[in-house]
Amino acid sequence: MIELNKIKKTVAWSALKYICPGTVVGVGTGSTVSYFIEALSTIKHLIHGAVSSSCYSTKILKQFGIPIYDLNTISFLKTYVDGADEINPDMYMIKGGGAALTQEKIISSVADTFICIIDESKKVKKLGSFPLPVEVIPMAYSYVSNELIKLGGIPKYRKNVITDHGNIIIDTYNLQINDPVSMENKINSLPGVVTVGLFTLRTADIVLVGTKFGVDVIKNK
Ligand code: 5RP
Repeated sequence: MIELNKIKKTVAWSALKYICPGTVVGVGTGSTVSYFIEALSTIKHLIHGAVSSSCYSTKILKQFGIPIYDLNTISFLKTYVDGADEINPDMYMIKGGGAALTQEKIISSVADTFICIIDESKKVKKLGSFPLPVEVIPMAYSYVSNELIKLGGIPKYRKNVITDHGNIIIDTYNLQINDPVSMENKINSLPGVVTVGLFTLRTADIVLVGTKFGVDVIKNK
């Protein structure tokens, strides 16, 4: 565990060199990103501030004295830095372990460059071992769960979690994600679904992979 935290910290700090001075930085959510925020605070005098993907990250950013910007007030977002729960060789990801998938999808879609910071356990050949998170409007829980069962999944209500938008998370086990693009579209088109945690339309541009030996850099073609 200590070793894993060290790897997360190293990979998070390595993302600093991709931050352009004089810009607002998009900031994701999660334990790896929390280390990134700590790193970002050391260059806070060089950046304008951050657009945050969750109340959780906003709190940490504020603790470090990094100004928060509303996404609607900025015209350009150079870089978005976030983690992932799984990533495959096409750079498709499962995200949402921290329940911030909707904001993460919005901010990453706006950003020019998505830098994904992970430890190597997140690299997979096929997506789906990690239960796929789906943010759902509460009244649609039963309907969406039944539709996820039709897709071959086993939906499980994430207990004690209400998203920043007042919605619930359904974690979907056992899905065979053979075609991630079509799965993202199918689940996103269900009424009541706010967002599915599959990221195939907005993939990572650069993946920084923390290992015991250092940080590997993978660039999307
Ligand atoms: C939050 C996410 C995170 O990026 C993902 O869960 C990875 O988190 P961690 O860095 O703690 O492993 O998608 O919604």
